Amino acid sequence: MCGIIGYVGNKSAVPIILDGLKRLEYRGYDSAGIAVMNEQGFGVVKQKGRLASLEQLVNQQPIAGTIGIGHTRWATHGEPSDINSHPHLGSQNKIAIVHNGIIENYLQIKERLEQKGINFVSQTDSEVVAQLAEHYYDGGIVDTVVRTVNALEGSYALGIMCLDEPEKLIAVKKDNPLIIGVSDYGCFIASDVPAILPHTNKVYYLNDREIAVLTRSKVEFFNMDGEPIEKELEVVNWTLDSAEKGGYEHFMLKEIMEQPKILQDTIHSAIHGDNARIVESLDITKYNKIVITACGSAYNAGMVAKYVFERLCRVSVEVELASEFRYKDPIIDKNTLVILVSQSGETADTIAAMREAKRRGAVTLSIINVVGSTIAKETDYTIYTMAGPEIAVATTKAFSAQLVLLYILAIAFARKLGRISPEVEAKLLAEISAIPEKAAEILERVDMIQKYAATCIGCKSIFFIGRNIDYAISMEGSLKLKEISYIHSEAYAGGELKHGTISLIEDNTMVVAVSCCERLYEKIYSNVEQVISRGAKVLMIGSCIKASPHGKLQIIEIPRINELFSPSLSVIVLQLFAYYVAANKGLDIDKPRNLAKSVTVE
Ligand code: G6P
Repeated sequence: MCGIIGYVGNKSAVPIILDGLKRLEYRGYDSAGIAVMNEQGFGVVKQKGRLASLEQLVNQQPIAGTIGIGHTRWATHGEPSDINSHPHLGSQNKIAIVHNGIIENYLQIKERLEQKGINFVSQTDSEVVAQLAEHYYDGGIVDTVVRTVNALEGSYALGIMCLDEPEKLIAVKKDNPLIIGVSDYGCFIASDVPAILPHTNKVYYLNDREIAVLTRSKVEFFNMDGEPIEKELEVVNWTLDSAEKGGYEHFMLKEIMEQPKILQDTIHSAIHGDNARIVESLDITKYNKIVITACGSAYNAGMVAKYVFERLCRVSVEVELASEFRYKDPIIDKNTLVILVSQSGETADTIAAMREAKRRGAVTLSIINVVGSTIAKETDYTIYTMAGPEIAVATTKAFSAQLVLLYILAIAFARKLGRISPEVEAKLLAEISAIPEKAAEILERVDMIQKYAATCIGCKSIFFIGRNIDYAISMEGSLKLKEISYIHSEAYAGGELKHGTISLIEDNTMVVAVSCCERLYEKIYSNVEQVISRGAKVLMIGSCIKASPHGKLQIIEIPRINELFSPSLSVIVLQLFAYYVAANKGLDIDKPRNLAKSVTVE
């Protein structure tokens, strides 16, 4: 989704903004632009396309200033085009803005302003913000911003500059992320922390409908009554290294390789650290129902967790796509625990699901990677994945961290509910503590996976099958592959094949079968034989495979582990498989077409 960066300080703004935009690229975008403010007015360079061409354009048409805003746009209203790119200016060139979000009542505002003779140049919803702010401006930017955002319906993170107040950069947000950074040489606004990590790790987290006024040396905050408010400066523990490729060709590969360390940190925190204390403070005996809701891979983590929770806790767990949950009139009340899973903590549908759950009185627990994000702030309980910044659009390390937190949560709940003895608990936790080492063993076998993936690049479709928890993790394998390789893919429960999918199997159709549930090995293997006898080529991934490889069957063994936790190992093979299929096709793996890292609009 759109990315925002802004700077005011004593350095030249353009290189800082361009660098920040590069660090926001992963959010997904189709156009980009920059505006700086100087004595002559605004210098604006913007265009459809990649940042590399924006950079070229900036070199051809240099703009200078020590205050500026930049934007990567992911089109919602109005096609990707030069004119629809941000920043947008009011028609008197007095106010410039960048916007992330959707202004739902933009047509009404536009009509009203057009009747007053104001000319619009773009098809975007965002331009109304610049035009309206300029229309309202009466010499006080904070009052103007209050008036402007009070007239807006929808969601916004805004960076605003006003020619009459040339020292000030204004930020305001509602339902879209925006953080403020401070350094010795200036202050920053950004959609997320990695964009400003080269300059500072000291940030303020802006709450909805708070206004920040940044100057070279300080930041002041105001509420919607225009009154000053105090906010606490926080120090982020992410390092610059963690947000850079570090010699890897793609962030996705680097993030896959980081998993043993991330798993270790997350497991440690959930057994001995801050997360453990939060889990302990939650009295699961008060709830008669658990609902997990999330989007994308986080939803798949919920699907895996359902098997673990139900097996260990004997409590029924519903897993809902957040985009469906929010509109389905969910049957939940104060006796329901709703678990929200989200890497970013900013996914619009997951935020809406959380608010719906709260509105109905449910207690909310979130599993989040980004500290200070909306979901982390608004849920009753929050536990954090220790994944560090995740840059590749396709999640890997954050997903793996979500899984282990969910396992540990299930074990703690099972103990509190009296379903497992302390001995069983200790045994299960010991098995979880062994996951990082076993994950590292798999990562030593990258070559084998790479070689196999190279044989699959011509496939039109790849099917993933599994049973029970292997089916749940197959869903993630299939999603990962289609996200980055653009190969059609579907995950099926092995037993469902005969009800439809088997009709799609023909000579050389590729099938990936996950097999870590020993008790179901014969069942999945008979599915494998059924597809092989219809011409399929099969890759079996698992820890309990008894068959031997042959012309139509390849096998990738993974270390043995309790089947409940096996998704943490099989997923690494699935991630690497997806990665190498896409890499062999020469695709833009970290920024797959049409996708965004953090989906902040509905
Ligand atoms: C996007 C990303 C996925 C992610 C999903 C949910 O689609 O590309 O990788 O799983 O959003 O994001 P969240 O931040 O809520 O986990």
